[in-house]
Amino acid sequence: MINDYENAEKSRSMFTEVYSQKRGTCITVVLLGIIIGIFAFAYITFGNDTIADSLRSNHTLKLVSIIIEHGQTAPKFTYPNDPHLNDSRWQSSLGELTKRGKQNMHSLGKFFRERYSALLPDLYFSSDIRVLSTNADTCLMSVAVALAGLYPPHKFQVWNPHVLWQPIPIKGISEEVDKMIGITQSCPSLPKKKKQIENIVTSGDVNLPKLYDFLSENTGAEIRNLSSVLALYNLILVQDKTNLPLPDWIPLVYPEKMLPYTIKALKLETGDAEITKLTTGVLLEKIISDMMKKSTRELSTKMFLYSGHEQSLFNIYSVLNGGKGRESSIKPEFASSVMIELHSVEDQNIVQAYYLNKPGKTPHSINITECGDPCLLENFIKFTKPFIPQDWTKACSM
Ligand SMILES: *[C@@H]1O[C@H](CO)[C@@H](O)[C@H](O)[C@H]1NC(C)=O
Ligand SMILES: *[C@@H]1O[C@H](CO)[C@@H](O)[C@H](O)[C@H]1NC(C)=O
Ligand SMILES: *[C@@H]1O[C@H](CO)[C@@H](O)[C@H](O)[C@H]1NC(C)=O
Ligand SMILES: *[C@@H]1O[C@H](CO)[C@@H](O)[C@H](O)[C@H]1NC(C)=O
Repeated sequence: MINDYENAEKSRSMFTEVYSQKRGTCITVVLLGIIIGIFAFAYITFGNDTIADSLRSNHTLKLVSIIIEHGQTAPKFTYPNDPHLNDSRWQSSLGELTKRGKQNMHSLGKFFRERYSALLPDLYFSSDIRVLSTNADTCLMSVAVALAGLYPPHKFQVWNPHVLWQPIPIKGISEEVDKMIGITQSCPSLPKKKKQIENIVTSGDVNLPKLYDFLSENTGAEIRNLSSVLALYNLILVQDKTNLPLPDWIPLVYPEKMLPYTIKALKLETGDAEITKLTTGVLLEKIISDMMKKSTRELSTKMFLYSGHEQSLFNIYSVLNGGKGRESSIKPEFASSVMIELHSVEDQNIVQAYYLNKPGKTPHSINITECGDPCLLENFIKFTKPFIPQDWTKACSM
């Protein structure tokens, strides 16, 4: 291979000489042919060389499933001692998507347009993309703005020159039957299992009761479990990002002291295989089934977009990265996303996953720890098997 490159280099200098001396077009054409041949040969050889290299190219990409977290929202709740309790600064009411949230989602959509331009043509064809969302307003609105960034109308699809937007269908899964993204369908064993895991991960932690006391005292609210710490953290986060003056006690615990517990809170839903089945299994099964159909060319869809919450995104990341959620230590930002890509390289189906923490940054590749490198689809199916529920409803009643 190195020889090929050397030859290519030699040929190139010969070509320059020959050309500059204008020794007849015939030689030039022949040499040009040889050079192109050598480069093509080198390219093919190089392409065979490492699968990782070919993965960087767009032409191997066949399908992508993307899980997104909605954009920034106004706080969902406040606490009794919150100095901003009655703040009218939010342009939207509690829990709703803010202006910045809309802007971030739009950037995210534009990022997908750029990254997946070779997969998805500029023109919208309904068979290319399927969009599913929880039925929460924030998720529906967020993905609608992202789609505006992904699919601005082009050419004959422009229907009003003053409105460079076009409608793209979004399927909202209603709360009573959502076992895929928001997990709002009734599942009695889920809170029980979550509590058990919480007891295990917090037992023996001498700092946690102190933190609970400190937070409860200062907020005037009952902060005595991990989910309350997470909710409070996210509330402070939004206030902080909006540059609201924060009370003096906050910098003593936010972000450093609270952060590890917010991550522990997020990890509960993938704490073991049983709970992962309930929280993440159905989505995982759907993503796998789509990849399998794509690999046997039974599927025309090229992109699936799932619009969910921080927890939805964290769960899928956690399964990919740590199998049982051990490794993951991300704290997703609003408008972050996980992209699961299916590539086809020399008849091998390879799964690659990426995490984008914030639109405008560079996505980083997720180490699918238990799958191997490259992560073959068959290995992916094997290692995720313990997380796929045979019967979700039954698992929920155990
Ligand atoms: C917020 O409004 C409620 C009811 O109007 C009032 O009782 C409370 O004192 C206000 N709190 C703050 C921090 O302004
Ligand atoms: C596809 O190519 C474009 C342009 O080079 C690049 O910006 C994008 O990141 C690539 N996409 C993937 C999935 O590698
Ligand atoms: C956590 O505490 C809050 C406030 O006391 C309570 O409403 C909530 O149900 C608790 N959550 C769990 C999972 O125990
Ligand atoms: C991915 O995870 C495996 C298992 O923990 C580890 O051996 C490997 O070094 C990791 N790879 C990268 C690129 O971090």
